[in-house]
Amino acid sequence: MPNSALHFNVDAVRMRLPGRRIDWFQSLDSTMIEAHRDMLPGRIVGAEAQSAGMGRHGRKWISEPGAGLYVSMILPAKAVPVIMLALGLATRDAIGGGADLRWPNDVLISGKKCAGVLAQIEGDAIIAGIGINVSQTGFPGDLETPATSLLLEGVQVSREDLLVALVHAVDRFCQLTREETLRHFAEASSYACGRRVRAEAAGKLVEGVTCGLDPAGFLRVREDNGAETIILAGGVRPI
Ligand code: BTN
Repeated sequence: MPNSALHFNVDAVRMRLPGRRIDWFQSLDSTMIEAHRDMLPGRIVGAEAQSAGMGRHGRKWISEPGAGLYVSMILPAKAVPVIMLALGLATRDAIGGGADLRWPNDVLISGKKCAGVLAQIEGDAIIAGIGINVSQTGFPGDLETPATSLLLEGVQVSREDLLVALVHAVDRFCQLTREETLRHFAEASSYACGRRVRAEAAGKLVEGVTCGLDPAGFLRVREDNGAETIILAGGVRPI
């Protein structure tokens, strides 16, 4: 007898996304690993639970069974970090558009992380892994960035509706030009400009105020001595 709380109606989603291959699993180590086994363009891999959910910078992604949307999608390769920004914008859009984005693509509500994106480049394709906290009612207190879920923030949405919205949004935002992506990010993110942050650049910690994106989409930070540093790899934290 399936646990109804964990029953994701994948057939209903397939009807709404005709032509997309969606492989849905009760449990996986990581949807990233399963997606890598067959990189058919457009393929979507999802799981109710992950035993080894991967976050950025080698962190774990807590994947409570049935409480989140854990998916990986095979997309055509695009320049980094533009693709990272596009995926964050798409995730934000799918959950309703009011969230903040911390460069490059952490999705925050009230300063807490409710979704994250991992992009793995494999030849001429990208495996885009997206995790959205949907109905968790609590998180460990020792996370580097405090976490939240849509439910905790008063947003009630089914994971089926969320996946359909996410796939449409990813398709849309990944088709934007670099300039359009950068413009959307600057409009959506409180971190793009004027935010005091700490971040890592070339192995050292940098503190300063964000001052926009460079033409490639990397984050510019002006340190107190006036020097400008380009942040290439995330790890941006507010101070
Ligand atoms: C981050 O650290 O912010 C990125 C989190 C990405 C998590 C998702 S969940 C689905 C996919 N499978 C994984 O193992 N990780 C990504």
